[in-house]
Amino acid sequence: MTGGYGTVDILQGCSISVNKGQVAVIVGPNGAGKSTAMKALFGMLKLRAGQVKLNGEDISGLSPQDRVAKGMAFVPQTSNIFTSMTVEENLEMGAFLRRDAIQSTMDQIYELFPALKNKRHQPAGELSGGQRQQVAVGRALMTQPKVLMLDEPTAGVSPIVMDELFDRIIEVSRTGISILMVEQNARQALNIADKGYVLVQGANRYTDTGEALLADPDVRKTFLGG
Ligand SMILES: Nc1ncnc2c1ncn2[C@@H]1O[C@H](COP(=O)(O)OP(=O)(O)OP(=O)(O)O)[C@@H](O)[C@H]1O
Ligand SMILES: [Mg+2]
Repeated sequence: MTGGYGTVDILQGCSISVNKGQVAVIVGPNGAGKSTAMKALFGMLKLRAGQVKLNGEDISGLSPQDRVAKGMAFVPQTSNIFTSMTVEENLEMGAFLRRDAIQSTMDQIYELFPALKNKRHQPAGELSGGQRQQVAVGRALMTQPKVLMLDEPTAGVSPIVMDELFDRIIEVSRTGISILMVEQNARQALNIADKGYVLVQGANRYTDTGEALLADPDVRKTFLGG
């Protein structure tokens, strides 16, 4: 993918993919273009060159809404919940495009995140940071996606809450949903990644299994704090 904002290319030919039921993680310094890459994949940014494919089908021309219908779900880095709406209303918003019964999906989400069930009638803005992220992930899962894209789902939460959320994300991937995730907590995220990407200045600096990246001395020294 190559493209950016206005005439400035932020993405400089980066290439990212995730296989079915696997976890792929994008790490890299601030401003590297991680969020821009996620927006491009979701169709919020027009590419100047390159393609986005889902199950081999070129979806580069589709709007974000049409990509949701094809099976993509995206939790952005910021403003990812409706704070004045209840937890349950947030989940219902996630199902906006669906025309079938949504209750069983909602039950699955409450099973995955039991705290949300207890707080389902509370405004989402009153929840803790970790629980808000659960609402955001739950909202995305309401579309029954094939690919779940998460931009820094553990931003601002404690290490314990982070571990818990990663466990839930692994659980989701085991159901056959592909996870593509940007993470600041690089070491912990690569630890659960089938595939990892170190993105620098809009290009792939390193691409390998999570395990191999964690073991690479150069990656460790420059991007993982030693
Ligand atoms: N809407 C926008 N308009 C113009 N430039 C933007 C816009 N959003 C981001 N940028 C620029 O694009 C570059 C990449 O930003 P991006 O948000 O993709 O980085 P990131 O890797 O997600 O960083 P972070 O780790 O801080 O989230 C930065 O130089 C940023 O200033
Ligand atoms: Mg970002």
